[in-house]
Amino acid sequence: MPNLVILGAQWGDEGKGKITDYLAKESDMVVRYQGGDNAGHTVVIGDQKYKLHLIPSGILYGNVPCIIGNGVVLNPKSLIEEIKYLEDLGISLDSLMISDRAHIIFPYHIEIDRLEEEARGKKKIGTTVKGIGPCYRDKVERTGIRICDFEYLDSFEEKLRYNIRRKNDFLTKYYEADPLDEDKIVKEYIGYLNKLKKYIVNTQPIIRKAVNEGKKVLFEGAQGTLLDIDFGTYPYVTSSHPISGGIPIGTGLSPYDLEKSLGVVKAYTTRVGKGPFPTELHDETGDYIREKGFEYGTTTGRPRRCGWLDIVMLNYSRDINGLTTMAITKLDTLSGLDKLKICVAYELEGKKIDYFPSSLETLSKCKPVYIEMDGWKFEDIEKANTYEELPENAKKYVEKMEELTGINAGIVSVGPKRSETFIREKLFI
Ligand code: GDP
Ligand code: IMO
Ligand code: MG
Repeated sequence: MPNLVILGAQWGDEGKGKITDYLAKESDMVVRYQGGDNAGHTVVIGDQKYKLHLIPSGILYGNVPCIIGNGVVLNPKSLIEEIKYLEDLGISLDSLMISDRAHIIFPYHIEIDRLEEEARGKKKIGTTVKGIGPCYRDKVERTGIRICDFEYLDSFEEKLRYNIRRKNDFLTKYYEADPLDEDKIVKEYIGYLNKLKKYIVNTQPIIRKAVNEGKKVLFEGAQGTLLDIDFGTYPYVTSSHPISGGIPIGTGLSPYDLEKSLGVVKAYTTRVGKGPFPTELHDETGDYIREKGFEYGTTTGRPRRCGWLDIVMLNYSRDINGLTTMAITKLDTLSGLDKLKICVAYELEGKKIDYFPSSLETLSKCKPVYIEMDGWKFEDIEKANTYEELPENAKKYVEKMEELTGINAGIVSVGPKRSETFIREKLFI
């Protein structure tokens, strides 16, 4: 079973897109299993930058089947825009498939996301306002509309009209907002789904067949472990399961089908949106990392909060996902800093702890316990063509990460391009 899970081990934006694109070259299929267009995955090939939100990063090879799985919530309008964006850049979309079990994001989800965020005031989550939470909420509440519903146009229209009326009732009475235009939405969404028809299929048997035939299947996570609805920093999380446990649910495979799990780990930590962040830096080092690593959101353009690497969190992520390997990204961003810190434990009310607390109140009381490492110069990282040629202190940093987590760094990335990637372990069997 040569399949491989690629997921974010921190709070998202670890470089999953870059790593998936890199490994997709050798793979037979790439599958997204959760999230929606809240994701922003950047892939850089030569001088061209590609920003992907819903479409798996394997699409850039043209012939690797790319699947949007049933666990994804799909905004058809934004998918059509993404398809057009890629087509304009000369990318073929022939290998794209969309699960007919995926739920559809409608304008009322986005409007509710926006109004709820506004109403939360200081307690806002800092969502991407893409309607992700409200769409997953409808799915769980059993009022969602799935792509396969579109096969039966009359009942699709009936369900959609019913939902719009119900949501309008809520929007106007609770938020005193303007109602959404029912006829306009129905017409627009029928148009969008007609455009997407050729990509829609029951993806479960297709993924099953590929796995049974021993094909190399990559699972591309969106968001990150600490944004998981169960294991993340709830409620400052997304509404899906970015962890490896999300894969069986979001694809229709069984948990026993999964083999290796590659955690994409930034050499430091970032987070977009609100919520506690023990190793956050509010000083010039944080600003240095933000500017050097260009830490601005791919989807929303928001500046990312930056901080030191947190091993307590990473080991938690290792255990939840069964990580077998790490892809360490953005090592180059740390170049130029004299001293680097790694958080190896938390101090909670005078005691040292090495677990990640469930309660946010407890987490916000945790003070990081750091070890210090020596830095390296940027020029020395730029000169390296192999892992061995990296500056000694950069290698020591990587090896310290391996020692503290007990997992190998199978991949080390020192720049956004495909060529700036060092492979230290064969990941596909
Ligand atoms: P994702 O959401 O996990 O796919 O990550 P994003 O694409 O949102 O953010 C990662 C950013 O870092 C993107 O702009 C990538 O092009 C860039 N990137 C990825 N790996 C590296 C690296 O090793 N070094 C540098 N400097 N940039 C990287
Ligand atoms: P990728 O795949 C980083 C964050 C939002 C917010 C929280 C909930 O690029 O790593 P949502 O719109 O999902 O309801 O917002 O989750 N968030 C991300 N942060 N990277 C992402 O995706 C994210 N997708 C959502 O900022 O804090
Ligand atoms: Mg991102």
